[in-house]
Amino acid sequence: MLHSKIIILMLLFVSFTYAEVTKGKQLFNEGSCLECHNHEDFGTKKSKIKMFKQLEARVQACQLAGNDGLFDDEVHDLSKYLNKDFYKLKK
Ligand code: HEC
Repeated sequence: MLHSKIIILMLLFVSFTYAEVTKGKQLFNEGSCLECHNHEDFGTKKSKIKMFKQLEARVQACQLAGNDGLFDDEVHDLSKYLNKDFYKLKK
């Protein structure tokens, strides 16, 4: 019984993360981001971004500059997407 509960919790977590990343990708493609960026801009060796918090702060600053009007949870989702596909930061 305990095992099936753990499996259900894991599935919930995975699908939740998947939803965040999917939403984030959509926000990225619909937002101003590609007006100034290429995908090659993200997660390069030159990047000063070493922590997820820094990535979120950068996305926040950029979406303000680009006038995207994102909410905090949208900034979070977008950062999750960039992290999953490009940065791969642990924390
Ligand atoms: C008006 C132009 C502009 C727009 C629009 C813009 N950015 Fe940026 N972005 C910049 C500039 C300039 C930098 C800084 C480059 C540097 O100093 O390394 C930057 C840096 C970044 C970085 C850090 C890159 C790295 O690893 O060093 C991320 C991540 C980023 N932007 C995400 C976004 C996202 C997501 C959006 C859309 C919501 C966006 N940007 C929209 C201009 C823009």
